[in-house]
Amino acid sequence: MSSIEILGTGYVSAEKKISNFDLEKRVDTSDEWIVQRTGISSRYVSETENTSDLAYKASLKAIEDAHIQKEDIEVIIVATMTPDCMTPSTACLVQAKLGLNDCPIFAFDINGACSGFLYAFQIASDLLNRYHHILVIGSETISKMIDWNDRSTCVLFGDGAGAMVLGRGETQLYHYANSEGDLQQVLHTEGLPLIHDLQNSEPQTHFLTMKGNDVFRFAIRVLKESIENVLEQSGLTIDDIDLVIPHQANYRIINHVAKKMKVDISKFYMNLQEFGNTSAASIPIAYAMAKEEGLIPEHGRVILVGFGAGLTYGATLIDNVGGQ
Ligand code: COA
Repeated sequence: MSSIEILGTGYVSAEKKISNFDLEKRVDTSDEWIVQRTGISSRYVSETENTSDLAYKASLKAIEDAHIQKEDIEVIIVATMTPDCMTPSTACLVQAKLGLNDCPIFAFDINGACSGFLYAFQIASDLLNRYHHILVIGSETISKMIDWNDRSTCVLFGDGAGAMVLGRGETQLYHYANSEGDLQQVLHTEGLPLIHDLQNSEPQTHFLTMKGNDVFRFAIRVLKESIENVLEQSGLTIDDIDLVIPHQANYRIINHVAKKMKVDISKFYMNLQEFGNTSAASIPIAYAMAKEEGLIPEHGRVILVGFGAGLTYGATLIDNVGGQ
């Protein structure tokens, strides 16, 4: 258990909105199929901005929302599996874009795939023993690792970024993180896509491949396990929780989990209709949107829960949101 405060949040979507009808023109699919099997109606795709650009924009919003000076930031952690380049890290690029080159900043990326933000958030909360203000970002331009001719993956994903500024406070956190090393390539890409090129859809080794049904079953199992783990640690029940913010992969996955846990689906926040799956950005975008919509009460309780390639998964129960 650790104590923090979420001082500010912000999010951005990528520039271009692509509807299911747009995808109908590109691959053999239909709006009806995509909505029925996933709940997704649209997603945003970056045309000129890379992962650090989206991360920077979301950060500016989170810093403004936190009512701090950007010079107060001591740590920048970016969760991403689609960095601009191998090195420097996306976090260092964000530092530069924020104009903080002369400030002493501990900056690094982590790759936990779609669980990346949860992993970063958990690391950040532990680092608050040493630092006062930490910028945690989930940012992806996953479009550059998508084969836009593969209907089984291209309908699912989108680009975006979400950020949080964390400080010390009286909000209690209960963490759970796990991984199950995957040599079966259930969710997999070769190498790293360094060049952002939406037009190039010739078969590439860096395109994401996925065994959709395996991921579906894995997701239902580990989302339930992760939620139950943090509830048990806290001594709370699901009825004590105001909102669950799951990784925004698929409406059907989330609905299955809600049914298995005998919880009304309305307790699970979803923006996947509009955003699709933005990987490490999905949970911080959803948190910021839920906050904007007034769905996260002061002193309330929220569970963040996610899963992704690795295979990785985990949850954090946030108790006493905004507690001072
Ligand atoms: N449009 C139309 N048909 C499609 C399609 C698309 N976009 N994608 C796949 N299909 C077809 C398949 O080819 C298959 O056809 P066939 O029966 O002739 O072989 C049929 O639809 C059913 O495919 P299936 O894979 O059984 O569908 P599904 O109901 O399991 O849904 C997913 C597929 C991908 C939506 C679902 O498995 C899923 O969401 N998995 C988890 C993915 C995920 O969350 N990944 C990210 C993790 S972080």
